[in-house]
Amino acid sequence: MMQGLLPAGDVARLREALETAGYTPPGIGARIGPAAVDAVRRNDFRPLLKATTDGDRLATLIRVFIAGHTEPAPAVTAALAPLPLERALAAGLVEAAADGVRATVDLDVYHDWWILSDVDASGVRPMRPDHVLGVGNAASTLAGATIRRPVRTALDLGTGCGVQALHLSGHARAVTATDVSPRALRFAATTAALNGEDWELLEGDLVRPVAGRRFDLVVSNPPFVVGPASTRYAYRDSGRAGDGICAELAAAAPTLLTEGGTMQYLANWLHVSGRDWRERVREWVDGTGCDAWIIQRDVSDPVDYVNLWRRDASEPADPARAGEWLDWFDANRVEAVGFGVVTLRRRGRDDPAVRVEELAQTVEPPLGEAVAEWFDRWDWLADRRSDGYAPLLSERLRRAPDLRLTQHAGHDGEDWTVDRQVLALTGGLRWAEEVDPVALALVSGADGKSPARDQLAVLAAAFDVPEAALAATAAPVLASMVERGFLLPA
Ligand SMILES: C[S@@+](CC[C@H](N)C(=O)[O-])C[C@H]1O[C@@H](n2cnc3c(N)ncnc32)[C@H](O)[C@@H]1O
Repeated sequence: MMQGLLPAGDVARLREALETAGYTPPGIGARIGPAAVDAVRRNDFRPLLKATTDGDRLATLIRVFIAGHTEPAPAVTAALAPLPLERALAAGLVEAAADGVRATVDLDVYHDWWILSDVDASGVRPMRPDHVLGVGNAASTLAGATIRRPVRTALDLGTGCGVQALHLSGHARAVTATDVSPRALRFAATTAALNGEDWELLEGDLVRPVAGRRFDLVVSNPPFVVGPASTRYAYRDSGRAGDGICAELAAAAPTLLTEGGTMQYLANWLHVSGRDWRERVREWVDGTGCDAWIIQRDVSDPVDYVNLWRRDASEPADPARAGEWLDWFDANRVEAVGFGVVTLRRRGRDDPAVRVEELAQTVEPPLGEAVAEWFDRWDWLADRRSDGYAPLLSERLRRAPDLRLTQHAGHDGEDWTVDRQVLALTGGLRWAEEVDPVALALVSGADGKSPARDQLAVLAAAFDVPEAALAATAAPVLASMVERGFLLPA
């Protein structure tokens, strides 16, 4: 069993201290109010400090663990009771300062959980190489994109503080979590124990600790930062050059997933001069036999990218180090870096569905169920793919309830003429696509009652085309509308 930061008895004492003091999301919310909660999210601790001047146990815990304040030793002793202060000091949860005691770890409340991680000292002091990240934007992005359907076994690769494993505990019967960093695993073990969870925690590089085993769901927020091979910061650098770690994860999917199992991870990928980024990324999944949906959510310029990640780790100002990183980009003809979410699914078909595309619009969170529905629709389409999707014409399709049409018209001197028509989903993934009059007519007729085939004769007459030719064009159009979720099986 992985040793945590505290022995089991002390974790129970810490938990008792947090519970009895009211250091829970509702307890903290009620004490500091929504305005201070919002301000803290923006790193403004003034309203929080104003709301916690009473010196009681909850106020002390909030000031120490959320505001990073130094508080008098007697107040911290009372706040942590029944965990003795000297044991909290020995475990490295807090440290003695000139005028009291201050936190050396972040004890965050997140959803209904307590999460232990290193204190975020970005901009204050350089990070330690084995810095254990707290819950940041990337972690929340992955948590939101994860399919939350019940599974038997789940794996979190590179667990860090254990945030993804906590989410997995809500819908997986057994959770395994790995990390290359023993220190991260001690934090994860403490997070698990504090929340009454029991995870299998394994140390080692990427999939090595689980070699030969399969899981229903694998998630990873890996150290995906691209550049020359480096292991400077464990949370960020994988030791692989370029986007090697993300390619390696995709290659591992067929041996890591159960039949029908899913792998989801955050990734960065290189945009290399003269190559379509989609082609490069598609190569990661070619040969895996897995279905894949890879969505690019953002693109960064190399200089901005290097500045961002150097700032993120509070790397000391060192133009030579930044220069080396940028020189590597130049030498490898990297024009930009893409950021996105990779979802792979192992399925026993010989015609895997692979889509690599941009999803730049703001989506309705969380993304997870939309990802699951994308795969559901793909399965449904896969059974109707023969003969250019001809079987689709016999299906009853209905318009998505939140589908909207926007028409753009230009004035030709005499009247307004519609020259562009755009269909858009107002919820979920909020896809928007320009459609031609035939596609629009097909969507308009999709009332869920009669098959598309019934419309063809009328449409062929209206657009003056032979019915067979229209059928051949209409079927793939319907398939792409189903893929996007504009049309749904009735
Ligand atoms: C970006 S952090 C993610 C932490 C956490 N899962 C989250 O979602 O916030 C990446 C984690 O991967 C771990 N890691 C780095 N290199 C690794 C490797 N080669 N194999 C396994 N884990 C690794 C780091 O120690 C770190 O905990």
